[in-house]
Amino acid sequence: MTKIIGILTSGGDCAGLNATIRAVALRAHHGYGWRTIGISHGTLGLLHRPVAAEPLDPARLDAALARQGGTFLGSTNRGDPFAYPMPDGTLKDRSSEMHEGLRELHLDGLIGVGGDGSLDILRRLLAPTRLAFIGVPKTIDNDVGRTERAIGYSTAVAIATEALDRLQPTGASHDRIMVLEVMGRDAGHIAIAAGIAGGADVVLLPEVRWRLANVVERIARLRHAGRTSALVVVAESAGQSDEAPDKPLDGADDALGDAGVGQWLAHRLMSATGAEARATVLGHVQRGAMPTAEDRLLAAALGVRAVDLLAAGKADRMVGWWNRTVIDVPLEKVVGRSRTLDPDGALIRTARALGICLGDSP
Ligand code: F6P
Repeated sequence: MTKIIGILTSGGDCAGLNATIRAVALRAHHGYGWRTIGISHGTLGLLHRPVAAEPLDPARLDAALARQGGTFLGSTNRGDPFAYPMPDGTLKDRSSEMHEGLRELHLDGLIGVGGDGSLDILRRLLAPTRLAFIGVPKTIDNDVGRTERAIGYSTAVAIATEALDRLQPTGASHDRIMVLEVMGRDAGHIAIAAGIAGGADVVLLPEVRWRLANVVERIARLRHAGRTSALVVVAESAGQSDEAPDKPLDGADDALGDAGVGQWLAHRLMSATGAEARATVLGHVQRGAMPTAEDRLLAAALGVRAVDLLAAGKADRMVGWWNRTVIDVPLEKVVGRSRTLDPDGALIRTARALGICLGDSP
């Protein structure tokens, strides 16, 4: 009998999700003669009646889909099945409704494409069912454990690097310090990679304890050496590291209200150095783009392996990329173990070797 597998994308979108969906549906069709059903908006589609889902026709999944950003299935980073926010403000466990939705689809397996949080939720949601679940890691933050790469990271780094390439000439023309705030909810993977590739003078990360005084001193040294502009990259979560912008700001700084770390830093650097500074908050620009070749390749390789695992009767595993090849690992070894930057790892050491200031010393 023809098997049916489901696929959903969950959590914040990123480039490469459509390429993943395509790889899964094509492998299921060409490799095993299975049908693939795409579930709409992550687990939210399972609450609709009938379930919001559509069969994926392999004939319509041409290569153009792999080039498109976003996810044509839709996604959500809201609506925890076990604590679903209801209109009256209460939280409700709606997991059994989602189980009903899954039964309606008559699936033989489910592939969930998500970050650490989504994979954890999906794993717990599927646990009481007998449905085989395989996770595929995606997040621009690249902080999923047991994989060197998550889908979407390469594209985000390319965009952040291009932003630095564009900020450098305008900063140089106006003798300004240009601060670029990049995403990374808990980790500085995007910041360190883009900072090195884009020639930053300073990179501030949540993983390295930095001091504003060191950054000010580095800018002063650059100016003393004749440089009139500087590029500073700051991860959105780097404010947790030291003089956090969420602490009450004094005097004129009050005007910044709840500004993020990038705005805060530009403001502080301006007062401390006397130089003009401007902040750019890159935000969701890092997520919604045509995927790089690297992300498309990763999506293809991980999507194919996810289907092959279901075909081999495997469940409760995540596919990943490690040491130049595709691997799979038990999901229990992944969830709840966010992979932050190793302070002694290759990228941080490279940045230091290039003379990039990480704020722990001038
Ligand atoms: O986890 C991915 C991510 O893009 C983070 O880098 C960022 O902090 C967060 O999602 C933003 O979420 P939202 O789209 O809900 O603003």
